[in-house]
Amino acid sequence: MKTFGRLARSSARFARLYSTNRGAKNSGVRLSLVSGSLVVGVGLGLVTSNYLLPSSEKQIFPLKSTTPLASLDPPKYGSSEDLKLCINEIIRVIGADNVRNSEAELEHHADNGFNPTKALPHQKPEWIVYPTSTEEVSAVMKIINRYNIPVVPFSGGTALEGHTYSTRPGIVLNTSKLNKILDVHHRDLDAVLQAGVGWQQLNEHLASVPEYQNLMLGCDCGPGAHVCGMVNTNASGIGATRYGSMVANVISITVVLADGTIIKTKKRPRKSSAGYNLTGLFVGSEGTLGIVTEVTVKLQVKPPFETVAVVQFPTIKNSADTVVELFQKGIQLNAVELLDSGIMKCINYSNLVSKQYDNVPTLFFKIAGLNETVVQEYIKEVERISHKNHCSKFEFARSEEESAELFSTRKNSLYLMLDYAYNEIDENAKMWITDFAVPLSKLAATLEEIDKVASTYPLPHMALGHVGDGNIHYDVFYKPGEYEIAKKLVAEMNRITLKNEGTCSGEHGIGTGKRKFLEDELGVDAIDLMRKLKVALDPKRLLNPDKIFKIDPLDPSGE
Ligand SMILES: Cc1cc2nc3c(=O)[nH]c(=O)nc-3n(C[C@H](O)[C@H](O)[C@H](O)COP(=O)(O)OP(=O)(O)OC[C@H]3O[C@@H](n4cnc5c(N)ncnc54)[C@H](O)[C@@H]3O)c2cc1C
Ligand SMILES: *[C@@H]1O[C@H](CO)[C@@H](O)[C@H](O)[C@H]1NC(C)=O
Ligand SMILES: *[C@@H]1O[C@H](CO)[C@@H](O)[C@H](O)[C@H]1NC(C)=O
Ligand SMILES: *[C@@H]1O[C@H](CO)[C@@H](O)[C@H](O)[C@H]1NC(C)=O
Ligand SMILES: *[C@@H]1O[C@H](CO)[C@@H](O)[C@H](O)[C@H]1NC(C)=O
Ligand SMILES: *[C@@H]1O[C@H](CO)[C@@H](O)[C@H](O)[C@H]1NC(C)=O
Repeated sequence: MKTFGRLARSSARFARLYSTNRGAKNSGVRLSLVSGSLVVGVGLGLVTSNYLLPSSEKQIFPLKSTTPLASLDPPKYGSSEDLKLCINEIIRVIGADNVRNSEAELEHHADNGFNPTKALPHQKPEWIVYPTSTEEVSAVMKIINRYNIPVVPFSGGTALEGHTYSTRPGIVLNTSKLNKILDVHHRDLDAVLQAGVGWQQLNEHLASVPEYQNLMLGCDCGPGAHVCGMVNTNASGIGATRYGSMVANVISITVVLADGTIIKTKKRPRKSSAGYNLTGLFVGSEGTLGIVTEVTVKLQVKPPFETVAVVQFPTIKNSADTVVELFQKGIQLNAVELLDSGIMKCINYSNLVSKQYDNVPTLFFKIAGLNETVVQEYIKEVERISHKNHCSKFEFARSEEESAELFSTRKNSLYLMLDYAYNEIDENAKMWITDFAVPLSKLAATLEEIDKVASTYPLPHMALGHVGDGNIHYDVFYKPGEYEIAKKLVAEMNRITLKNEGTCSGEHGIGTGKRKFLEDELGVDAIDLMRKLKVALDPKRLLNPDKIFKIDPLDPSGE
């Protein structure tokens, strides 16, 4: 289909645009291997590592409950000579084929093209290491720990906030080769997976086996994401309103700690009061506390019958009020997605859907139940409440194909927006994807206020969101010279979200891009407590340094 071709070209061009603009705009984070001078002339890794131990252990366990940034010395990493020795040892353990530094591979692991903040040109990894088992990860981490080399855990590479930048060039540990589905226990509704299994890979596998056909993972996110990445960002997606985000879909994980120790956080029962819940500690930790090598996930049962409704409203407030009222009624909704008038315009522009929609706020619902009769009853209620809130159009799918078509409009909206932007805004247009969430009752007011402020900016912006969770992505379009203006607008949006008791991240995480926002949101003491946990588990600060919060008092970035 003609339009599809155009879309594919648009998305490819988008990725290219981003990658050619790397390093152009933001201040980024400092990087340097601090310890160089200590190790001049010392050839043996074993000897060097003694010099490189944290200078004073009292800094790591002072008699305080938190670790303020200023109480730390700068981290001390191995020299380039140490890195060489480290790599040689790793090669001896996992083979030269699994340890690479071709320019193309380094480039691939530097940026995925979607991050609004850019890595600085020198923030590139020096080596990519591909372990194939938990034991190999452990052996590799023991070596890395001995030589004090910074390491970035990496899986699908789809994270959006500079999570996988090598702020301090060293090793990227790509866990994608740990990609086996180890066990599916369909009677227990769980599956044991190696960390690099993709959510799509799992769902395809389940669909291909008769006994598993009615099962799926409850979370979905960026195409190509893996379960370990999803655990590490607490990913959500469209299904989260029904099944919860990754935190609610994980039973147990196997983690390799910074010094190579292997731990498993729980056994397989869903219920457990067996000590601290370490699973929860690692969820959302963005690769800063350990390397996840195995995940036991819950499986969800696909609804026996499901249909899609598309409902249009004159205002965002009408749509948000509808969602609140539906939840109050206890109606089972499997997806509640909002597309604002801007995105509806892009959809109409794409000519991709057979139906015509008005350019007004639109809700996409998935409504499910035991059988068609039951679902019909729900639809009646959804329709009644939508009309009560002044909907201008109510449509529900009358067949499975129609359901699929209606919902694909939502699924393709990112590419439809990009296509519109390249053709109608600027052929070099860029998109800044935000990720705010507020309590549902504050959603309408938040969106109205953001729209009001955003309309004083020269930048086109659109909103789509998993509004069942109060989670909204404003997408801000800007031309190459407008980065600073876009940044200012996004900061304004964040301020409004916070004022409405919201968060800067519903599902994408903090990475390097939102460290300042996180501090505004939770306060310095909460961040200092996170830092305490970080240095307790990873005293040398080797694992994904500089992500979520600062770990170096000399970090020059204001953000
Ligand atoms: C088009 C698009 C749509 C998206 N839609 C959604 C969405 O709807 N919902 C949503 O939640 N997100 C969405 N995302 C964001 C992204 O898909 C998620 O953040 C996802 O969880 C990242 O998984 P990944 O495997 O790609 O991880 P990566 O990007 O490789 O890494 C993510 C984080 O996990 C860490 N990590 C990776 N592997 C390991 C490991 N083995 N052990 C420890 N730490 C590790 C990394 O260091 C990093 O901090 C979208 C992204 C794109 C590009
Ligand atoms: C990570 O490793 C896998 C397996 O080797 C590979 O397919 C993938 O392309 C790698 N990721 C990147 C970004 O290169
Ligand atoms: C432990 O934490 C995980 C992830 O946060 C959660 O899914 C699980 O229910 C928790 N388990 C217990 C027993 O609290
Ligand atoms: C994960 O997401 C859920 C739902 O958004 C949230 O309640 C929980 O606090 C998050 N957990 C972490 C560790 O971020
Ligand atoms: C949708 O697009 C068609 C064709 O491009 C146009 O005629 C129509 O006016 C548009 N509808 C709206 C609501 O913008
Ligand atoms: C649908 O399920 C309801 C509730 O269990 C039941 O009463 C009804 O007979 C079912 N209808 C059909 C057509 O199967």
